[in-house]
Amino acid sequence: MMQTDLDRSRMPVHIAIVMDGNGRWAKQRNLPRLAGHNAGMQALKEIVKRSSALGIKHLTVYAFSTENWKRPEEEISGIFRILVAYVNKELEEIHANNVRVTILGEYEKFPENVVAKLRQAMGKTENNTGLEFHIALNYGGRPEILRAARALCRKAKAGTLDPEAVTEEVFQAELFTAGLPDPDLIVRTSGEMRLSNYLLWQSAYSEFVFTDVLWPDFTPDCLEDAIREYQGRSRRFGGIK
Ligand code: FPP
Repeated sequence: MMQTDLDRSRMPVHIAIVMDGNGRWAKQRNLPRLAGHNAGMQALKEIVKRSSALGIKHLTVYAFSTENWKRPEEEISGIFRILVAYVNKELEEIHANNVRVTILGEYEKFPENVVAKLRQAMGKTENNTGLEFHIALNYGGRPEILRAARALCRKAKAGTLDPEAVTEEVFQAELFTAGLPDPDLIVRTSGEMRLSNYLLWQSAYSEFVFTDVLWPDFTPDCLEDAIREYQGRSRRFGGIK
């Protein structure tokens, strides 16, 4: 593990990020929005590496929301192209770093070649034991909760589940994040202070760190700053210290 001045005994187990501001980054430079997403992909590469080097166990990034379908077709297909290019370029190194890739969301709705690429990334890395890198794709918190509710209703209707037995644990097991710990820290870049349908169930006790830095400018040192801010927080989970 790398050297750092962070408190090793208080590292977040799960960091989730809203990678916001690619469009504005491009606009400031008179570049097309896709140039911003491309720069965002470069930034992400470095964040995955640093998270892994810091010994973080889970990193979840919001790469495509269920609302992003509202964007122009050209931008959507451009993001898909960037995703495929990311896997093509980075999968070897990700694998060499013992990183495991998983996808949260209904990514099967993406074009066939994108789905195949994502499956390749998940398949190749499925036995890796280091950082778990979760990419939220075609993900929305409310659709995720509805999907879980529907699955439980189906079981109840079939007579295999007693409604009274639906605990938080039973419910969480139906979410895309089944088995994952809730995010300790949620970071959103670009100065926006909202959740935008991200990890609604899972964020009940997350600490939030907001930064004005646009996502393409978010460096590994910015990540460490966010962790430092997190380490200064007093987490009480509704109790008293
Ligand atoms: C938010 O910025 C960013 C997105 C909606 C897409 C994020 C995609 C990437 C970082 C690249 C591909 C992902 C992977 C996993 C390789 P915005 O477009 O909302 O920016 P704006 O608010 O300034 O317009």
